[in-house]
Amino acid sequence: MNVIQTNNYEALSQRVADYVQELVGAKDQPVLGLATGSTPVGFYEYIRQTQPDWSHVTTFNLDEYVGISPSHSQSYRTFMEKNLFSNISVMASYIPDGQAHDLTAECTRYEQLIAEQGQIDLQILGLGHNGHIGFNEPGTSFQSRTHIVDLAETTRQANARFFESIDDVPTQAITMGIQTIMEAKKIVLMVSGHDKQHAFNRLMEGEVDEQFPASVLHHHPDVTVFVSDVG
Ligand code: GLP
Repeated sequence: MNVIQTNNYEALSQRVADYVQELVGAKDQPVLGLATGSTPVGFYEYIRQTQPDWSHVTTFNLDEYVGISPSHSQSYRTFMEKNLFSNISVMASYIPDGQAHDLTAECTRYEQLIAEQGQIDLQILGLGHNGHIGFNEPGTSFQSRTHIVDLAETTRQANARFFESIDDVPTQAITMGIQTIMEAKKIVLMVSGHDKQHAFNRLMEGEVDEQFPASVLHHHPDVTVFVSDVG
């Protein structure tokens, strides 16, 4: 695990954008795994500003809420449109359909779509306070593939700031599984802010435990952690 300390959030965002752009520029048909949440917002902003040609890029998002429409202001589809796709054209972008009639079938379909691409070249991740990656909450099997999750109450509270009230925060989501994430060739984990200090320290302790999902990354051969402001 390669850990890169950066001076501040802006530096972190730029470093990640440069890292991603280098890979995108070097590949014929790169496949990126994308994340939502507040941490990657600066990274997307930097990509929008630099206006790279991503017309050969395929993207897969990690997760989506269940039960809200793609056009809902807080859906991850809307997040991606606002932060990236409205400005940057990609060859194809995939996000789980949280309104699918058959959610289990949707999870299978999403796995198949990824498998058809061969492999995700680079998966970007944020870090939840409880160590979640995507929406893989503590206790999720390291063997899990795309699945439906019941969101932890703490996760709903953390994300309530984006909704009118906690009651409006969905209780379930579809997320790539931990095994799905681990099959990416490269992984970037972005960690920023004092509120992530505890989670970051726990990750750095190095113990691998299903009760702290991000710890699985110690078993991946190519992980870069970009960090700012956790001290
Ligand atoms: C959310 C998302 C994750 C994200 C994490 C941290 O619930 N599902 O993909 O990485 O929580 O979010 P933030 O970056 O806003 O702290």
